[in-house]
Amino acid sequence: MMEMILHALHLLPPETAHKATILALKCGLGSTAPPDDPSLAVTLFGKRFSNPIGLAAGAEKKAEALKGWTKMGFGFVEAGTVTLYPREGNPTPRVWRLGDGGSLINWMGLPGDGLAPFVENLRAFSETPERERLILGVSIGSPEGNLDDFKTVAEACAPLADYLTLNASCPNVAHEAGHAIEAIAKQITAVCEAAAPCPVLLKLGPTNDGAVLTEMVEAAKAAGAVGIVATNTVPHDKKHLLRADTKWPEHGGKPVGGYSGPGLLETTCWMVAEIRRILGPDAPIMGCGGIQSGADALRVLKAGANVVQLYTGLTYQGPGLLDEIKRCLRN
Ligand code: FNR
Repeated sequence: MMEMILHALHLLPPETAHKATILALKCGLGSTAPPDDPSLAVTLFGKRFSNPIGLAAGAEKKAEALKGWTKMGFGFVEAGTVTLYPREGNPTPRVWRLGDGGSLINWMGLPGDGLAPFVENLRAFSETPERERLILGVSIGSPEGNLDDFKTVAEACAPLADYLTLNASCPNVAHEAGHAIEAIAKQITAVCEAAAPCPVLLKLGPTNDGAVLTEMVEAAKAAGAVGIVATNTVPHDKKHLLRADTKWPEHGGKPVGGYSGPGLLETTCWMVAEIRRILGPDAPIMGCGGIQSGADALRVLKAGANVVQLYTGLTYQGPGLLDEIKRCLRN
């Protein structure tokens, strides 16, 4: 049955398929996972995750189907990225399947309805029995890098979340404040102050530059971030991290979007191992990027992540990917 549904979804354009999935989950049509084996549980920033598998940011942008993702068996969901004001995002089409059975390029540009309806959805979820079973993260962003916007979003979301992630690495918006480390450090400090006592993590973009990574991770820690999510999608200017034959969609004659999928796994493992070395044994690290099997998840956990996040693999394989990873971790 699930194979037929996945096949039907793959006949649709990717963004439409995603909207159909969210609608189905909202209507209670998703799969129901059995309760997690206690051996899968992980404790991070004092919270018990029933399993270490999370839904990565961007899949549940509006926090509207949180009950459905909980039923599907995720130990945690990173809802968002939410911005203060509604945003259209980039023109469609803005998500492409690459034809290799596992990769996507997305050029979404942080579309969403803005903070107010997002918080309403979080509030409604907080009154359901599923809330007890799910660790809920919220990914927050401000394409303009505006500190007041960050504070407003953090203040509103933190009381309803178990952790916040500052997304300063979306490749699909023009970050006016730039990616300068000092600018991001200021954003982290502002968000930590507004969110306290809710823990704040920083989501990084991909890199294979050890010096840049060390500087960024140390600055994030000094600014108050408790941990790191690594990594976001690969923008075209980092295409050296991917296979040379990766095909990029174009808009206005220029390559656009960020790559996600198996080509990211090596970078994810390398970054996670480096971050673990830099931060030591206790800091929370969430590994994300290219995880499409139980063996991939194990690699990222062995590299030093406490938990993993999935997005692209789920769009290709459906909830069976979660079951496979759990089986692999139990063994
Ligand atoms: C994303 N990703 C993302 N990340 C984020 O921090 N905020 C966001 O809003 C989004 N939006 C988004 C949309 C789409 C369509 C995709 C495919 C991805 C990035 C995502 O969370 C993750 O970091 C990467 O996709 C890498 O993991 P996977 O997909 O290889 O498992």
